Amino acid sequence: MIDKATVVIDNIHHRRTIKPEQCITGTISDADIWRILECANWAPTHGYTEPWRFVVFTGDAKHKFAKDHADMYKASTAEDKFKQVSYDKLINRAQTTSHIIAIINKRGANPKIPEIEELQSTAMAVQNMQLAASALGFAAYIHSGGMTFSDEMRQYLGFEEADKVLGFLYLGIPNEDEKAPGRRISKIEKKVVWKG
Ligand SMILES: Cc1cc2nc3c(=O)[nH]c(=O)nc-3n(C[C@H](O)[C@H](O)[C@H](O)COP(=O)(O)O)c2cc1C
Repeated sequence: MIDKATVVIDNIHHRRTIKPEQCITGTISDADIWRILECANWAPTHGYTEPWRFVVFTGDAKHKFAKDHADMYKASTAEDKFKQVSYDKLINRAQTTSHIIAIINKRGANPKIPEIEELQSTAMAVQNMQLAASALGFAAYIHSGGMTFSDEMRQYLGFEEADKVLGFLYLGIPNEDEKAPGRRISKIEKKVVWKG
């Protein structure tokens, strides 16, 4: 029998980014999306600021968001920098994505908690979601391109100046034939100083 720790650790090791290009058309149930979101809510926070916020796009709203994002990119990019492939990708990826979830860090009012701690918590919340999606057999991919970090996007999503859009989590149904290999530049031993 496989013990609980092995299941959790294997899920961490074997979770892989799976992009919309590696997905098929299909919709994840609301119940499963809520299970994934609930995992975000269990990320640790200093001072219970719980700064993670999400805007979930699915169905027609997902396609509208994808088009609005692409148009926002076009409107704010100089002609010589604009790439039609990037514009098209922003729109087309919605076809093989079940849900696009905007990830926002909501800056708390407690002056004792610096923003960097809240950003760490929101990142942990997103990792929880990725691990939950992986455990449920869904594809998950974080996108931080396009207009992610712009004021336009923050305002579009309805957030204030102190808040930050950190990315978009694309969730979908993976194509069984596509299995991305894991890749790390260096082993953990190279990233650790061990004293004592
Ligand atoms: C904060 C963050 C932002 C990311 N943004 C992008 C992105 O804009 N485009 C992209 O192709 N991958 C993006 N990724 C996904 C990485 O490419 C991916 O995590 C990396 O290749 C490692 O693969 P793995 O997740 O399968 O371990 C992002 C990941 C993180 C954590």
